[in-house]
Amino acid sequence: MAIETDVARHYGTAGIAERILAALKVVNGADTPVTVDALSVLDHFHGRGIVATKELVELLKPEPGEHILDIGSGIGGPARWFAAKCGVYVTGVDLTPEFCAAAVELNKATGLADRITIKNGSALALPVGDGEFDRAYSQNVIMNIEDKGQFYREAFRALKPGGVLALSNLCRGKDGKFRYPVPWAETAATSFLATPDEMRAQLVNAGFEITVFNDTTAGTMQATIRNRERLEREGPGTLGTHLILGERLVEMQINSARNQEAGLARTVEALARKPR
Ligand SMILES: C[S@@+](CC[C@H](N)C(=O)[O-])C[C@H]1O[C@@H](n2cnc3c(N)ncnc32)[C@H](O)[C@@H]1O
Repeated sequence: MAIETDVARHYGTAGIAERILAALKVVNGADTPVTVDALSVLDHFHGRGIVATKELVELLKPEPGEHILDIGSGIGGPARWFAAKCGVYVTGVDLTPEFCAAAVELNKATGLADRITIKNGSALALPVGDGEFDRAYSQNVIMNIEDKGQFYREAFRALKPGGVLALSNLCRGKDGKFRYPVPWAETAATSFLATPDEMRAQLVNAGFEITVFNDTTAGTMQATIRNRERLEREGPGTLGTHLILGERLVEMQINSARNQEAGLARTVEALARKPR
């Protein structure tokens, strides 16, 4: 509980949706509609942004009309993308009340409120029924979770038999001095990275069959370096994820990239199935 309180305090700031909608008006014009495409430059709050969400769609392969669970839904960028582009219904669960409030506002602004339900709650005690979902995904959330076994057991419980879970996880690399702050934590007190091997074992122990397991670190390294160099040269620009956490995010993103470049953190995309 103490960890969750500190995690939510790390992420939450007042007025997130208002800041984002005001910045969009300045850049795109007051009369330009708020769309998932317009928001996509700033509402996918994880490494490589919308590009990584598109990869997750390819991995999860949702069918129109399905019910999808987003575990750690943030301000709702991925949920809106899945709902708008795949014709699915999304339930997003997130720990941070201010993120849930922003997600609800932005769902309304994009006309997606009837396709997306946002619940403020914990991934460790998901406020959803057993076997409620066809598919689930979680993007860059697990690094805030100490009890990863419970996280995967809850995802497993929420899925129908035969349902699949797509994950975009940050994992632990080699030992070394990790730079803080990073986008998910000020210090090591709320940062918990498992190695890729530990991640596999935790999924299997929760009952999943792993069908895809890709370490994407090397393939995305050039993009990581380019993005870090752009941030160091130009700062955050007008539209970006700094509108969520504030300009302190720039230092955090640079530290996170440096950790990956030094081999201390790795990115993994995986698909796991709940047996029928
Ligand atoms: C880096 S953000 C990613 C948000 C979203 N998945 C995205 O990619 O845009 C991590 C998110 O995990 C959420 N989170 C962390 N611990 C959680 C927990 N125990 N239960 C639910 N959400 C949690 C945070 O509130 C935050 O929204």
